[in-house]
Amino acid sequence: MEGLNEMISIINLEKAIKKKKVLSDITVNFEKGKIYGIFGKNGSGKTMLLRAIAGLIYPSKGEIKINDLVLHQDISFPKSMGILIENMELLPQYDAFDNLKILSRIQKKANDEEIDTSIKRVGLNDVRGLKIKKYSLGMKQRLNIAQAIFESPEIILLDEPTNAIDDEGIKLVQSLLVEEKNRGATIIIASHHHDEFLPICDKVMYMVDGKIRNEN
Ligand SMILES: Nc1ncnc2c1ncn2[C@@H]1O[C@H](COP(=O)(O)OP(=O)(O)O)[C@@H](O)[C@H]1O
Ligand SMILES: [Mg+2]
Repeated sequence: MEGLNEMISIINLEKAIKKKKVLSDITVNFEKGKIYGIFGKNGSGKTMLLRAIAGLIYPSKGEIKINDLVLHQDISFPKSMGILIENMELLPQYDAFDNLKILSRIQKKANDEEIDTSIKRVGLNDVRGLKIKKYSLGMKQRLNIAQAIFESPEIILLDEPTNAIDDEGIKLVQSLLVEEKNRGATIIIASHHHDEFLPICDKVMYMVDGKIRNEN
């Protein structure tokens, strides 16, 4: 039956900024429990598309449905979403646990043990008490990934998740995302590194000039 497993449904999405179409003609569905890769060159519109799905920008045309609820109409944001997007700020004067603990007060979905587990899952071991300002870029990125998954959201949006992460970390992130998929999460990864995520993606799409050029 059509629509049964659709978590995110995008219909004729267009986003224009100062007359320039940064997204156009985007019609695509994302099903529950699958990993999607969105690849494309810098400036092709990957971040913009993730921001649109997250409810962070208003479409100029078209609509985005999350579980059949229309964004900016029925809901402001996807109800259960974890997101990693550029320019995210961790609190530098706190450690990893406290950063996630502070975030957990918003949704109240993760307990202390789940916070600890997610920090370990991204390979940050023995970091209790270590302030974020002492972290390397790669460690921060790992914590950003922990932040996106720690409340077991239905939708996980990751923008260039492997930035600054070493090969070992990339493998860890890959297997962690497969685990998240297996519990039923819908995962969308935007990356200009085609090779890194290809092995775990159920479906990949390429963006060129704000359009999805092809899917396979
Ligand atoms: N705040 C903004 N104002 C105007 N144009 C923007 C803004 N952010 C991004 N763009 C433009 O939107 C297009 C897509 O950008 P982006 O989604 O960041 O690409 P990608 O993530 O694929 O590198 C680019 O042409 C970029 O210059
Ligand atoms: Mg980008």
